[in-house]
Amino acid sequence: MSFPAHRPRRLRQSAPVRRLMAETHLVPSQLVLPMFVREGIDSPQPITSMPGQSQHTLDSLRRAAVEAAEAGVGGVMLFGVPAVRDAIGSGADDPAGILNVATTAVREEVGDALVVQTDLCLDEFTDHGHCGVLTPAGAVDNDRTLERYAAMGVAQARAGAQLLGLSGMMDGQVAAVRDALDAEGFSDTIILAYSAKYAGAFYGPFREAVDSQLTGDRRTYQMDPPNAREGVREAMLDVDEGADIVMVKPGLPYLDVLADVRANVDVPVWAYQVSGEYSMVEAAAEKGWLDRRATILDSLMAFRRAGADAILSYWATEAAGWIRESLR
Ligand code: PBG
Repeated sequence: MSFPAHRPRRLRQSAPVRRLMAETHLVPSQLVLPMFVREGIDSPQPITSMPGQSQHTLDSLRRAAVEAAEAGVGGVMLFGVPAVRDAIGSGADDPAGILNVATTAVREEVGDALVVQTDLCLDEFTDHGHCGVLTPAGAVDNDRTLERYAAMGVAQARAGAQLLGLSGMMDGQVAAVRDALDAEGFSDTIILAYSAKYAGAFYGPFREAVDSQLTGDRRTYQMDPPNAREGVREAMLDVDEGADIVMVKPGLPYLDVLADVRANVDVPVWAYQVSGEYSMVEAAAEKGWLDRRATILDSLMAFRRAGADAILSYWATEAAGWIRESLR
């Protein structure tokens, strides 16, 4: 009998050995917590499609931001749910609009303990629910939308956002917002481009979270799921337009695109573990079919392994707590 020449199991023999051999690490500062703030409510409203998540009041939002900071989370990404909407999403660039007011409040509360970020898109603010303004025929008007994004970006920077998440998938949006920011003296404001954002079913639970008014779909602007090469192209175009960070979204179903993008750009690459990914795990855990904590940590590590520098996750604060616990 001959002995095996190679024994990969040697490096898996015990917890200390495995720890020393780990190729990939996940630390709390690599996590960003998305949060929803809703105008005109006086207590947080649970989001039934996302068990454990709520639409926040300004007060509960401040508290959740402090909790995230205390857990060591790297940033919070804010989404606004306005009380009133219109065709052009006027609430988006109104300094008194809910997202801008909330941004200032969170900035006041946490200071520089984490990076305060805002979603830059019109869908929460329009009465038709699309990410842009519409032509008379009802199509999403790319270039008129860019003017709205530019105004929204400046309003968000003015409100105190340090990083803007451009999630609308309009062509030229990064350049348009960069120009407007620079012209107003906000050259330090960071642009995160949701470069390879795919249309599809995984955003389902998010619709309730933002009280979405959308009928129909976003398939004329978000990407088509069969296309991986095109995702790399979108990321490269955004880098060319001045994006500081590019993102792939959804997360786990698109790790192939994430790895491809990582190999083709030299800026940070982020991933968004979206609402559908969150709710699937919560539902299975509730049924006792999955070990909740272990599954969440496995999923977050998968993003790191595929090349993500940071991950937007609704579990950010909780996972940061677990990571710190495991390092003690
Ligand atoms: C658009 C936006 C969406 C999400 C983040 N930004 C909705 C969409 O594109 O339909 C979805 C995030 C999630 O599902 O968790 N403002």
